Amino acid sequence: MPIPGLRRGASLAARCRDLFSRSPKGVPYCPTPFAVARQMLEFASVAPADTVYDLGSGDGRIPILAAQEFGCRAVGVEINGKLWRDSSDLAKRLRLEERVEFRRGSFFETDVRAATVVTLYLLTATNGALQFHLASQLPPGARVVTVDYPVPGWRVEQQVEVKSENNVSYTLFLYRRQAVAAAEAATAADLREVRG
Ligand SMILES: C[S@@+](CC[C@H](N)C(=O)[O-])C[C@H]1O[C@@H](n2cnc3c(N)ncnc32)[C@H](O)[C@@H]1O
Repeated sequence: MPIPGLRRGASLAARCRDLFSRSPKGVPYCPTPFAVARQMLEFASVAPADTVYDLGSGDGRIPILAAQEFGCRAVGVEINGKLWRDSSDLAKRLRLEERVEFRRGSFFETDVRAATVVTLYLLTATNGALQFHLASQLPPGARVVTVDYPVPGWRVEQQVEVKSENNVSYTLFLYRRQAVAAAEAATAADLREVRG
């Protein structure tokens, strides 16, 4: 079910992909279809104890869905003033302000230490630019789910094809922030493999 007051978004898929292919410098606003957003949160096994951060939260659908359907806390970070204002107003109208917060600003400057799940519908280059910020702040065990665009250099834990309401295919990528010791062991194993 879509959220009342928000566009369905699924019909925008083809136009969005075209827009994405032409916007290598910035990330344009393109909503994730509701069915895909729901599957993203399921894929990350979101539970009431989680805190979901959607970086570049657009109309706010992912934080709102996370709170409404998965019972968790959620934070959206959005640079566009109108999208930020509209999503904040919607959270208030839906009486979700206790559990959903929208922050206006850049995700590069947002403190994400409280996130246990991060959702990203951004371009690969932007995911790449964000990866050090995420890796330095996310707690061990935090999951990161991306739509269509992977995080370059990160080890994909799981990947799945999902469909939107309009039967358009999307790829979801799941990553998990490892504990430091596990990350070091994985790096050592990678090095051994490379050296033979
Ligand atoms: C493709 S849309 C995704 C919207 C939403 N996450 C969803 O999946 O429906 C990307 C969003 O990121 C926002 N954005 C781009 N650069 C940003 C930045 N540096 N900081 C915060 N938001 C940003 C855009 O304004 C846009 O709303």
